[in-house]
Amino acid sequence: MTYAAITGWGKCMPPAVLSNADLATFMDTDDEWISTRTGIRERRVSHVSGVDLSHVASVRALACAGLAATDLDLIVYGSCSNDEQIPNTASGLQYKLGATHAAAMDVNTACTSFLYSLSTANALIRTGAIKSALVVGVEVIAPFMDWHNRNVAVLFGDGAAAVVLQASERPEGVLGEKLGCYADARQTLRVRGTGLAYASGAVTYGDTLWDFDGQEIFKRAVVGMSHASADVLSRCGHGIDDIGLIVPHQANLRIIEFVARKLGASMDKVFLTIQRYGNMSAATVPVALVEALEEGRVAPNSLLLTPAFGGGLTWCSHLIRWGERTTPRDGTDVDLPPPTRSALEMVRQFMANKGTAGRSTAGLNAVRFAESP
Ligand code: ACO
Repeated sequence: MTYAAITGWGKCMPPAVLSNADLATFMDTDDEWISTRTGIRERRVSHVSGVDLSHVASVRALACAGLAATDLDLIVYGSCSNDEQIPNTASGLQYKLGATHAAAMDVNTACTSFLYSLSTANALIRTGAIKSALVVGVEVIAPFMDWHNRNVAVLFGDGAAAVVLQASERPEGVLGEKLGCYADARQTLRVRGTGLAYASGAVTYGDTLWDFDGQEIFKRAVVGMSHASADVLSRCGHGIDDIGLIVPHQANLRIIEFVARKLGASMDKVFLTIQRYGNMSAATVPVALVEALEEGRVAPNSLLLTPAFGGGLTWCSHLIRWGERTTPRDGTDVDLPPPTRSALEMVRQFMANKGTAGRSTAGLNAVRFAESP
């Protein structure tokens, strides 16, 4: 039987840090409220596009695997903040990497996009359709955040990470998953202004309004993540005590604590990044996975569980058997250009641009791509 081993991993975090104190300079909030209600202390703001962020993460993942971009059969770009809708964003990453033999597709299931992408690539490798894939989780949310809405603006951050999958005869990689969606609650998280439904001009292009029912999402997230985890564990014949590390989606520390309690897992088995990065949507789980490896928290041949939820409301949990190797084969000097403005200065610029982007893309691009190489 063929499996899809995870042979490479890499992240790229934008260096500009936006603290809770920074947020309190322009909205009615404070560090005490944000950190006690969510666990978040700071997040990152990207000065480059999603393709640029994910390019650096991908080059690092390929070096880690010891694989050339030209060896890739497939790129799956998991994100809900695509640089462009047409052409797809995966093709932009394929071009930048020089991955000339790779098919390229975008997958958008909001915060679960990386994990749904992982399932897609895993299945294509396991059926023999392809032999290798790059799976990316990336978000650049800051440019379309509604920075006037304290209910959501304090929760999110930008980031990117990627993994390389390669066909293997060893039983490792994704062993099983449970995917689902509470579509009856899809209205609990809606970013008005980001799709063709808004092309008629109800919302000015480049502006967004976030509909957000945090308490309902909270409840559904706990149920969805714990149900999916219990399901995949029992189908694969494992119990929670077999799991070496839980790497969950990180929208709120209290959600993670509830899920861990429901699963009967202690919090020292859970890897957390939420304090430093907030909710990076699709980038959350892969960035946490890379940091867990960097910190020596992933043991060779151990089992990982990755429960997650996202807009839709999509939910899932993956059971992953890690391989022998937990260190990179190789590194790379490729990095982002340094930002020329602080995170707070960039956010103030996004706020100043609001409503001025008009029907041309000039306003948005001027901010998002000004500092891209
Ligand atoms: N600063 C200060 N006060 C705030 C802030 C803020 N940033 N945001 C809200 N408040 C106020 C509210 O106005 C409210 O005031 P009121 O009592 O005077 O009306 C009070 O704080 C309590 O608000 P609640 O909504 O009841 O706070 P709650 O404890 O439910 O926490 C939160 C809100 C953090 C959003 C929580 O519901 C949550 O984490 N929900 C799920 C997480 C989530 O949805 N993440 C994003 C989803 S995307 C994804 O990952 C799928």
